[in-house]
Amino acid sequence: MPSVYRRIRKPETSITRRAFLAGASAAGIGLAAYSGTHARHEFEITRLTVPIRNLPDGFLNFRIVQISDIHLEEFTEAYFLERIVAQVNGLDPDLVLITGDYVSRGPLEVSVAYKAAGVCAEILSTLKAQRFGILGNHDVVVGASHVIPPLEAHGTPVLVDSYHALERGRDLLWLCGTDDAGTNSPDLDLTVPANPKAPVLPMCHEPDYVDKVVQHPRFPLIDLMLSGHTHGGQIRLPIVGPLILPPMGQKYVQGAFNFDHMQLYVNRGVGTVGLPFRLNCPAEITELTLVRA
Ligand SMILES: [Fe+2]
Repeated sequence: MPSVYRRIRKPETSITRRAFLAGASAAGIGLAAYSGTHARHEFEITRLTVPIRNLPDGFLNFRIVQISDIHLEEFTEAYFLERIVAQVNGLDPDLVLITGDYVSRGPLEVSVAYKAAGVCAEILSTLKAQRFGILGNHDVVVGASHVIPPLEAHGTPVLVDSYHALERGRDLLWLCGTDDAGTNSPDLDLTVPANPKAPVLPMCHEPDYVDKVVQHPRFPLIDLMLSGHTHGGQIRLPIVGPLILPPMGQKYVQGAFNFDHMQLYVNRGVGTVGLPFRLNCPAEITELTLVRA
């Protein structure tokens, strides 16, 4: 009978709703646990070939590995960075470039970041290849004077509005690093050599700074720019897209972009900030092989 039917159906409906809400909560907790434990510790190795104009013979098939945004000790554990370093060593690159944010200026005491800078520098010293770094916005806020000395003492020179000539026999490649563009104002006249006569590869932590680079008179000299900072958005939801994008990391979020003769590559980083979560956005090690355009 209809009345009995309704009395029977009502509790069933109510139980179903409770079950649904409980299930949804469990799924939410499960998803958070997954993105905070498993997904945050996943990483991808991205391999790409980069055509460079007039690449000299000495740098044909030169392999650069880029890592970025380690953010040690906000959430990134030392063991995870050690795992990344082991992977990089396994790739046996010619050069390793680290595009900033070794530490975090988050809710923790700044002394935690000071200590983390030393630990990070020690772990990076186990990289077998020659390496260079630049500063990120978090490093500047923590204090360049606390981040650069341990890195350089452990064999990772840090380029701040400066360049270094990599030599292979008679051949040259200019490696450049800007100051952090989020907290300071880089000077491209200091970063990019005026008359390089060889490929020029600048690193700048914030990828959106590329819009300034392409307007600079020395843009025609630049071949490849490497950035990080965005973490790829950390959490990438279907349809919605990346959830966490910092200032100056909102336009060029991840991957490769072309600007006439110059390419920009944006690495998703190793660590996380704000929330200890990644989802659909694994950490990244990038291997770039230079070939002649
Ligand atoms: Fe950053």
